[in-house]
Amino acid sequence: MNNFKSFVEENKNKLNTYAKEYTDKLEMPEILKESIQYSLVNDGKKIRPLSFLYLLKYYGVDFTRYFDIALAIELVHTYSLVHDDLPEMDNDDYRWGKPTNHKVYGQDVAVLTGDAMLTLAFEVLAECDVEPDLKVKLIKQFANYSGAMGMIAGQVYDVKQKNYEVDSDFLRRMHSLKTGRLIELPLDFACLVADKLDEYEDIRSFGQQLGIAYQIKDDILDYYGDFEKIGKLPSDEDMITYLSFYGIDECEDLLKKHTSNAINISKKLNNNLLEDFANYLLKRDK
Ligand code: IPE
Ligand code: IPE
Ligand code: MG
Ligand code: MG
Repeated sequence: MNNFKSFVEENKNKLNTYAKEYTDKLEMPEILKESIQYSLVNDGKKIRPLSFLYLLKYYGVDFTRYFDIALAIELVHTYSLVHDDLPEMDNDDYRWGKPTNHKVYGQDVAVLTGDAMLTLAFEVLAECDVEPDLKVKLIKQFANYSGAMGMIAGQVYDVKQKNYEVDSDFLRRMHSLKTGRLIELPLDFACLVADKLDEYEDIRSFGQQLGIAYQIKDDILDYYGDFEKIGKLPSDEDMITYLSFYGIDECEDLLKKHTSNAINISKKLNNNLLEDFANYLLKRDK
């Protein structure tokens, strides 16, 4: 049995319940709360917050104390997708097997829902139970990975790709930013919260390799995946992706290459739990 798979089975519902209860308690316009919960509490994979909790557990930390940090991570991811689906960006109608947020609540509320989730993530993080110096460090890194130098930079390269020369370096950089940073962040955070600083550089490299692999797999599933499983429809065929650039065979090879680069780092760290995580992502069908 894959350890990460068992961890997901044990904790995904708990995370959803935590997110629901946390947001239930907040005072805000009813439509905003409904819209936040519509996109946040669902059957999404919750890979990012669960990988954070999973690595904490490996380090011997009582991970149940840090569901708030996990929630902050998922809030930023969810906001990025609510905005990514908007007509001005990818113009997608389905996500998580149901109509996208703007299809249900309208574009105005969808934009504001994303804004609200992003700002709420920082509030949640500001209240988490870690030492003040570490908290400042987490908040700064959170802003850096998700903001103009991180995920948003990657999204800009993606939507404005016609303005650039799209070669292999460009694609790799775009993927590292738009997807990689938020795959790296939970692992880096677990390392920092557990105070395992001697492993930090290796954990970062592991996350960087997996981040690229994650988007390659997303591009493959986007085209070959099954709606019933991935819950979204194929994207705009005019956009250049790893799949359209390299073709399926080379893409599969690159996916395996980046995953095995990550696995080699987990072996160096003697961390079979990370190896299970990498294999889980390699084999996922949703
Ligand atoms: C989708 O991410 C967008 C990417 C950054 C690749 P996920 O596939 O992890 O999103 P969920 O699981 O549906 O929330
Ligand atoms: C989404 O990338 C990446 C972020 C939101 C940061 P895509 O646009 O390729 O992902 P999907 O296919 O819509 O999930
Ligand atoms: Mg997109
Ligand atoms: Mg998209």
